Amino acid sequence: MADQLIIFDTTLRDGEQSPGASMTKDEKLRIARQLERLKVDVIEAGFAASSNGDFEAVQSIAGAIKDSTVCSLSRANDRDISRAAEALKGAVRSRIHTFIATSPLHMEKKLRMSPEQVLEQAKLSVRFARNLCGDIEFSPEDGYRSDVDFLCRVLETVIAEGATTINVPDTVGYAVPELYGNFIKTLRERIPNSDKAIWSVHCHNDLGMAVANSLAGVKIGGARQVECTINGLGERAGNCSLEEVVMAVKTRKDYFGLEVGIDTRHILPASRMVSQTTGFVVQPNKAVVGANAFAHASGIHQDGVLKARDTYEIMRAEDVGWSANKIVLGKLSGRNAFKQRLQELGVQLDSESEANAAFAKFKELADRKSEILDEDILALVSDEAVTQ
Ligand code: KIV
Ligand code: ZN
Repeated sequence: MADQLIIFDTTLRDGEQSPGASMTKDEKLRIARQLERLKVDVIEAGFAASSNGDFEAVQSIAGAIKDSTVCSLSRANDRDISRAAEALKGAVRSRIHTFIATSPLHMEKKLRMSPEQVLEQAKLSVRFARNLCGDIEFSPEDGYRSDVDFLCRVLETVIAEGATTINVPDTVGYAVPELYGNFIKTLRERIPNSDKAIWSVHCHNDLGMAVANSLAGVKIGGARQVECTINGLGERAGNCSLEEVVMAVKTRKDYFGLEVGIDTRHILPASRMVSQTTGFVVQPNKAVVGANAFAHASGIHQDGVLKARDTYEIMRAEDVGWSANKIVLGKLSGRNAFKQRLQELGVQLDSESEANAAFAKFKELADRKSEILDEDILALVSDEAVTQ
């Protein structure tokens, strides 16, 4: 049996931290239901102690979601943790995710705490949380830029206190894949009780490597949970994108050897819902969910795809929620793609010479117009064609 990769979605917490992406309680609930349809393992619904609005959003998601674990973030203090536990009361399965920064820079400049104070606070917070909930995730914020010896001490301590998931954030997107993967591996090898917890990766995209870093954390480091967001929504350049990481692990199962429980047919609707709700447009060339992700414009590619789709497609558009791939007719398109579109439009040309004439007209139009629509084709064959 292959190991399961746990998909932890934080669109509603870290994604919402993206400037301009804040969502109402009802919008969050709608997205949470879509994440449940997607069969996400864990939904981080918000940060209950951060505002009354977020508390209510976490509470309503906890009450509505049955199949996914519902999680709330909390700083490592008793008040935040109690608020998280309170908001999560109605959940079938709940998780408290508590964090404190462990990098020298964050401890000294932001927290103004010594490493020993941070260690003590992490320990007491996990102990407190463990009495309220059986499923506790701990994150050393800015973990990747932390001193490895100190980080090992902190993580060994919180595992001993009962943390069940250890998440290692690359909070500022500074990591590169091989180094991040090895970082997770080193932590797991050096911490004596590391096998008592599930290891998780949480990568930001400041250098465009969030997905690559997360996958390295899985492959090299042995992490079995990935934290991600729909469309890669998140602070600054965003978080690891759910659709990319899931489709990478599924498409390259030969390499990763892992199972993912996601029902991928709900990926595109989820992407559209998040984009419409936040107003964050998805770039056309975005992997998996961009408008061009399964579009073919060059004649050679169109001809290949019409003969056998896997010539230029490594995934099926239908598997991630598209109705089909898209052959974009334009000046690079060849005779085969043109003929196929005529057939789809129910247009029959009687002779080879009519077909040649129509194709010549199409090429002439395509020199003037970047994308030829179905209406254009119908207009240009209207003299010769018999429409079925
Ligand atoms: O990026 C980060 O460090 C976080 C933690 C709170 C997990 O989002
Ligand atoms: Zn984050």
